[in-house]
Parts: sequence; C-alpha cells; structure tokens
Amino acid sequence: MDTLKNQIESYSGDQALFALRKSLEYSTKVTFSTSFGKEDQVITHLIAKNDLPISIFTLDTGRLFEETYATFDRTIKKYKLNIQVSSPQTTEVENLMTKKGPYSFYDSVENRKECCSIRKIEPLKRALKGFDIWITGLRSEQSANRSEMEMVEWDESNQIIKIHPLLNWNSEKLNQFINTNNIPINPLHAKGYPSIGCNSCTRAIIEGEDERAGRWWWENTKKECGLHN
Ligand code: ADX
Ligand code: SF4
Repeated sequence: MDTLKNQIESYSGDQALFALRKSLEYSTKVTFSTSFGKEDQVITHLIAKNDLPISIFTLDTGRLFEETYATFDRTIKKYKLNIQVSSPQTTEVENLMTKKGPYSFYDSVENRKECCSIRKIEPLKRALKGFDIWITGLRSEQSANRSEMEMVEWDESNQIIKIHPLLNWNSEKLNQFINTNNIPINPLHAKGYPSIGCNSCTRAIIEGEDERAGRWWWENTKKECGLHN
C-alpha cells in the first residue's frame, strides 16, 4: 500500500483520474461508493467515460430524498451502467421501528448512531466484502475533520485501502468540471443542500454556514455517521 500511496500522493498532475488508474494497477478488486452528491457524480463520470472496471455501489438507507432517487435514475441512464444497491436488513429496520418508532434518531446521539449503524454501516460492510480498495468522494474542504485526511489511507474497521481521488479539489474546480462535462447532479444542490444524506437528517444551509451544517443539524457532534471516522 505504501508504494501506491506514494505514487498517487506525489503525482504532480491531476490526481483524480491518476488515482483511479493506479488503483486498478494495484488490484482488480476496486469499488466506489456513491451517494449521488456532486463529488460522486464526477467520479462516476470518470469511471464511465474511461471504461474503468470499477464497480459502483450505493447504500439505499430507505430514507433518501426523492431527488436523490431521480439522480440515481438519470445517472444509470446517461452512463449506461449498473449501480449495486446495498439495503439494510429488513428485520433490523422492522425491529428498530417497532421498538422506537420512525424518528428515534432525534432523541439522542446514541439512537442516531444506532439507526446509522443499521441503515448504513452494516450494508457498507456487506458491499465492501471481497474488495481491496474502496473509492470515495470525500474532499478536504468539506469539514475540519476531513481536512486532516490523506488521499490514500488504511481503513482499520473495514480492513480495506480507502482512496479519496477528489480530496484536494476545491468547490470551484468541482463546479467547473461538472459544467464543462455536463454531468447530471442532484437538484437539491441548487436549493441550498451542498451535502445530502437521508431526508429526515438533512436540511438546507444558510449563507455563511459550514458545508455540513445541514447534516444532523440538531446535534453538536463531529457530523460523521461512522462511514468515515
Ligand atoms: S456521510 O458519511 O456524511 O454520509 P457524505 O455524504 O459526506 O458522507 O459523503 C462522502 C462519501 O461517502 C461519498 O462521496 C460516498 O463515497 C460515501 N457515501 C456517503 N453516503 C453514501 C451512500 N448512501 N451510499 C454510498 N456511498 C455513500
Ligand atoms: Fe438513520 Fe438519519 Fe443515519 Fe439516515 S442519517 S441512517 S435516517 S440516523
């Protein structure tokens, strides 16, 4: 992993496509997770346009916005590809909702983490099984926590190499690439949602607020659900 990390992180050209190609030289078992946010749409575009044999999956928590499903639909039609869906275990969701109702996550951080664990973390673990490399759309600019991340890292909890090809892209570069390449994006971005997760747990932000202020807005936490710690 160290050689791969050095090669990618020291590359002086644009690291995004380079990182994807280098991943495939390292292993044929590379997978990318998409939530259909702007960053993910750019990576899907790079994978599709360059015919890269990288599988794509999404975690359908069951509580996504209608606009996110619409973006999912537009994406598979435009790029003519399949996106593997990983859903929560039915009995786990049934038990949680029966025991605590549909909005238990507003009651405490513990309850919120329980819901994220059932709807995101367990399906993520299943989706990553058998792969050597996990590609994500994380960017440094998104939060203080993420600004400390490295482009290539070892994910101890999932025992996998994690790569963030757009880590160093700023929002200007991201928007420019999207416009130039006519990439379909979630219409919620234009309505004040820079970061989009589940519908009950995401709100629009107002001017001056942090990019991730609309995620779990009622909490005073680091605003991470456990996918990226
Ligand atoms: S989260 O941890 O707060 O939900 P965020 O929405 O910023 O993450 O997205 C960061 C990256 O995590 C995305 O680029 C994507 O790779 C992955 N990701 C987040 N949510 C999902 C999802 N529902 N399905 C698949 N990947 C996801
Ligand atoms: Fe549950 Fe909210 Fe986490 Fe989605 S973001 S899994 S609804 S707590």
